[in-house]
This record gives sequence, C-alpha cells and structure tokens, in this order.
Amino acid sequence: KKEKTLAMIKPDAVTKLGSIIEAILDTGFTITKAKMVKLSRAEAMDFYSEHQSKSFFNDLINFMTSGPIIAMEVIGDEAVASWRKLLGPTNSTVARSDSPESIRARFGTDGTKNAAHGSDSIASAARELEFFFPSSGGRGPKNTA
Ligand code: CMP
Repeated sequence: KKEKTLAMIKPDAVTKLGSIIEAILDTGFTITKAKMVKLSRAEAMDFYSEHQSKSFFNDLINFMTSGPIIAMEVIGDEAVASWRKLLGPTNSTVARSDSPESIRARFGTDGTKNAAHGSDSIASAARELEFFFPSSGGRGPKNTA
C-alpha cells in the first residue's frame, strides 16, 4: 500500500545529503517535498513533544537545534515501515553491528546523533508532514539561519 512518511536529515548528517538521497531513491521511494530549516527550541520541543518526559529530551533538543535539518516527504510502498527499516536501529552504534548497511550505521554517531528520523506510524507521519509542510494557515518552520 502506498504511504507518505516524513524523512528528516538531522544536523549531524546534513553534509551527507547526497548519499542519503541516493539511498532513498535506490530503495524505490519518491521524494515529493523537501525543505531545509533551522528549528527554534520551541519548534523542536513541539516536534518531539511525545518525548518531553524522557531523560534524553534536553540533549535531543540541544542537538536538533544545533544546525539546519532537511525535512522530506517520501512516498512509496509501505513507506512508514520501509523508511524506518532503511534507517536501521535508533542508536547508530547498535546499527553498525546489527544493520551495517543502514543509514544510521553509515552516517550517524551515537544514540542521540543518529543522522535521520522517520515517522513511526501513519498517524505520526500525517502530524509530522503537517508540521513541516502545512496544508493551510501558517507556512511552517521558517528558513532562518
Ligand atoms: P528519533 O527517531 O528522531 O526519535 C527520538 C530521538 O531521540 C531519537 O531519534 C534519538 O535522536 C533520540 N533518542 C532516542 N532514544 C534515546 C536515548 N536512549 N538516549 C539518547 N537519545 C535518544
């Protein structure tokens, strides 16, 4: 079944944009939208609000606001699960042993600096795509340096 998901390249892997796009397209996905933005703290906290009570939340927000990110709408067969499979395990160190061809194994650093994000369900994909590519009203995160 054809699905949409959010693929986000995090600040540590923006320089790997070319290789990551190559991996996405080689897997058969279509990239239908893309935007490079620097998130404010408020925006990062909103995007990751489900993790606000976690011990790593502050580290995550510091990391996600440390430089620009690239958000992409990716479409393909079972795109939600299949993009997360291409990402590999959340922790890049684990990914290097369990899934060495994965994006997090190839381009990430550790448990927080893990190169890229993927929505974890159809519902979160809808929310996360709306966050970066609003269908009406506001323009979404602005491209400010
Ligand atoms: P992501 O898939 O974007 O979803 C939440 C993010 O929080 C995750 O990738 C990591 O960047 C970070 N994260 C998740 N679990 C941990 C953890 N145990 N320690 C530190 N950071 C984490």
